[in-house]
Amino acid sequence: MERLERLLAARDKTIAVLIQRQLDSRAQGTTALNTLEQNISLERVVARKTQELAKERADLENALGQLKLTQTRLLQAQKMESIGQLAAGIAHEINTPTQFVSDNVTFLRSSLAPLFKVLDAARDLAEAVRPGGQCPERLAVFDAAADDADLAFLREQLPMALEQSAEGLTRIATIVNAMKKFSHPSGEVMKPEDLEGIIRTAVIVSQNEWKNVADLQLRFEPDLPPVSCLGDEIGQLVLNLIVNAAQAISERMGKGDLSPGRITIAAARLDRVVELRFEDNGAGIPEKIQGRIFDPFFTTKGVGKGTGQGLAIAYSTVVERHKGQIFFESNGQGTCFFIRLPL
Ligand SMILES: Nc1ncnc2c1ncn2[C@@H]1O[C@H](COP(=O)(O)OP(=O)(O)O)[C@@H](O)[C@H]1O
Ligand SMILES: [Mg+2]
Repeated sequence: MERLERLLAARDKTIAVLIQRQLDSRAQGTTALNTLEQNISLERVVARKTQELAKERADLENALGQLKLTQTRLLQAQKMESIGQLAAGIAHEINTPTQFVSDNVTFLRSSLAPLFKVLDAARDLAEAVRPGGQCPERLAVFDAAADDADLAFLREQLPMALEQSAEGLTRIATIVNAMKKFSHPSGEVMKPEDLEGIIRTAVIVSQNEWKNVADLQLRFEPDLPPVSCLGDEIGQLVLNLIVNAAQAISERMGKGDLSPGRITIAAARLDRVVELRFEDNGAGIPEKIQGRIFDPFFTTKGVGKGTGQGLAIAYSTVVERHKGQIFFESNGQGTCFFIRLPL
């Protein structure tokens, strides 16, 4: 890459020198009429050379751009791999205790009914002996304990508390599972994948990005065929588009338009492709930057929020790696990205 950058600089210098020469020759040309013809032909040569060099320069710049993007992709892949390994490790560590806490909660839930049955029987017993005046001290202890425990309250609240705990644990398990799936590298080989599963996983993993600004809806056509693809690259792409949508909605809200955010992800089969749509009611993409959003490092977001790599990588993932199409429609009401992957 450095070599390319040096080459580019060298070309720039040569072009500058040639142009200078052209200008010089023009200046001299006016002084001597008899050298006019020579000057004209020289000028033509120089002009042609300059053109050739400019083209070479454009080619170099193109190659450099490609190389930079490849490097970004590689770095990203490496980063994802190490983050993926970490995430898989953490997921495993969280999974084990979650599993036994879940088992215990299930056990507690199933123990409540028999426990209350015993308590009811004890209370009936107490009421049965009370009129006879037997064991007055024991009765007093029982009454005090029953009062302290506020049995009616426990009877109502305990099952609810345990049910909520079970629900929370199911949520943890879902997230951890998604993390595990997401961090599992699928390798460089295309294989038939279930896009719905990939999208659902990305939606769970990115929850934190969208749940405070938008309602997210999924619309999958039933019986979507599996699509031959690189699973983790498509997962990454889906994640990027969801994050972009959520950020566009935040941006719109930041400007004072607080109507509820909505992200809709749809998947449907169209003849020989599967089309994914990512629709948001965010700020929209202003017309004057619409031609640049797929450029590497183009971003309208502040440091720490955007790096401008998401859509550039999305483009190369879809178009170059999967021979598909990516395009969008956008206006002041929001944006819709379309991805078409060949079947
Ligand atoms: N859904 C969207 N709504 C509005 N603007 C978007 C959307 N997606 C992308 N953009 C615009 O395209 C730019 C490039 O996006 P991207 O390549 O993902 O980089 P980043 O998100 O890091 O800025 C964003 O900075 C933003 O201006
Ligand atoms: Mg982005």
